[in-house]
Formats: sequence, C-alpha cells, structure tokens
Amino acid sequence: MTTMFSGASNLAAGVDRAFIFIFAISFIFTIGIVVAMIYILIRFSRKRNKNPQQFSGNVPLEIIWTVVPLILVLFMFYYGWVAFAPMRKVPKNSMEVKVIGRMWSWSFDYGNGKISPDLVLPLDKNVKLNLFSEDVNHGFFVPAFRVKEDVIPGYKNYMWFQPIAKGSYDIYCTEYCGLAHSSMLAKVVVVDSLEFKTWLADLKVVSNDHPGMAVLKANACITCHSLDGTKVIGPSFKGLFGAKRNVLTDQGEKEVVADADYIKRSILDPNAEVVKGYNKGLMQSYKDVLKAEDIDKIVDYFKKSSEQK
Ligand code: CUA
Repeated sequence: MTTMFSGASNLAAGVDRAFIFIFAISFIFTIGIVVAMIYILIRFSRKRNKNPQQFSGNVPLEIIWTVVPLILVLFMFYYGWVAFAPMRKVPKNSMEVKVIGRMWSWSFDYGNGKISPDLVLPLDKNVKLNLFSEDVNHGFFVPAFRVKEDVIPGYKNYMWFQPIAKGSYDIYCTEYCGLAHSSMLAKVVVVDSLEFKTWLADLKVVSNDHPGMAVLKANACITCHSLDGTKVIGPSFKGLFGAKRNVLTDQGEKEVVADADYIKRSILDPNAEVVKGYNKGLMQSYKDVLKAEDIDKIVDYFKKSSEQK
C-alpha cells in the first residue's frame, strides 16, 4: 500500500519533489494574487478615488516581476530535469520485459514464450520495459511508480525503474484507444526475488507467433531472410509489405510494390523477379512445398507486421 507521497519505485522521489515544488509555488501565488486583487478592488475603487491618475512605467517593479518568476521557473526546470534525466538512462544490468499493448489488454513477454497478463517483478531489481503496440496508440502508466510512456505502433519506446516496495499496483492505459480504453487495465505485482524466480519457472509457455510466422519458421525461411533488416542470403523481411523493391527480371530492371501478389510470386517463382543486389538461383520455388493457405498466412503475417510498423 502506498500513499500519495511514497512512491514504489526509485524514480518516484524525484517526480514527487518536482510536483510538490511546483504545486507549492502555484498555491502561494494563487493566494497572493487573490489577496492582492481584493485589496486593489477596495483600495482603488471609484468611491475612494474621485479623480483617476495615470501611471506609466515603474522600473524597479518591472525588474522584480521579471527576475522573481525567472528564478522560480529555473528551479522548476531544475527539479524536473533531475527527475527526468535518469528516466531515459537505462542501467546496463536491467532485466528486460516486453510490454505488448492492444485493444484492449496488456501482455508481458518475459522471453522464451513466457507471456503473462500481469507484470510480476522482483523487488529491488532494475527492469527495462520495451513498449510495443499491436494496433493503435496506447499509454503505459503505473501511478505508484510515477512512470508513464506512450506505446506507439512502429516506435520503439521504453521505460525503466526499480521497484522498491512489495505490493500490487495498478497499470492504466492513458491514451484514448477506443471503446474499452477505460478497461485496459493490468497489475504490477512486486515480489521478492526468490518468489519471482519460482513464478517465472512456473509460468506456462504460450506461443505468441502469428500462424504465418510459424510457417516461416517451419520452412526455415528466416535463415536466409532476416527479420531485423540484416542482409543475409536473401533480402530482409523487415518492412516488406507495401515497400517498393527494385527487381531484375528477364526484361530488365523494374520497380514493384511488395503487395500480396508480389509476395506470392516471390514464393512460387522466386527467380523471375530478383531484388537488386541479390543473386539469382539461390531460392527454389515453394509451389510444391507450401499449401495455398500457408502462403495466405505468410501474406497475412507481412500485412499485420507492416501495420505494426
Ligand atoms: Cu489502450 Cu487506451
């Protein structure tokens, strides 16, 4: 259980300090301005001042109302900066968990097919969360940890923190992402490290692969075609769907768009259009290897993964 001013992560103290500082200054100024307004209303009312006087310029006053706020906002900047800067510097020894947001749920991927609906973390250990969206913009927010980051399709966002108090804390989505946005909830559960190890060992392995990915793996396509943009034997699958490709055909060079038809042609007749910079004759036709429905799954995989990008 945490109260308003006892955050459950190492980053909370800095955020709270900046917040309290800005809040206190705003509070003092609100009171001061309202009191001054009431005083001026009474003191300079028409009843007390039959003949109005004109004033223009007051150098000392202008210096004061420029310098004082300047100093205050510089302090606000300082407190904000010292809280924010460490948030973007991930310590090297951090444990990594992939956070997947979708309409309208969260999943936490610990690697090796271990995926959990709640985020279970060991106490006092640095953790880096890699934030992925399968569809639209989401926001990953753990109020007790004072951390919040956008989860954007096609953008590799991240956050890190160290949980410093055992307990169960709420996770919210903070970008309006459709009908059930407000029920896109999950929990962070912070346990001691032994309990975490047992929990992770017991977590059931589920395959998160798209059926098309399963076909690509089963046929070892990804041995020659990388998923991360690396040039191997054939062109990478990264960002394939809808991309423009320069290919060499028997009629010479031409530009094609990697749409469903192109992907099907490349699987069935790989040497008819060879992407420029790669060699002909290294891939055989998969006409007799893959069923039509498997090819459709592959096309769908590329289509879906391009929508994420
Ligand atoms: Cu996801 Cu709102």
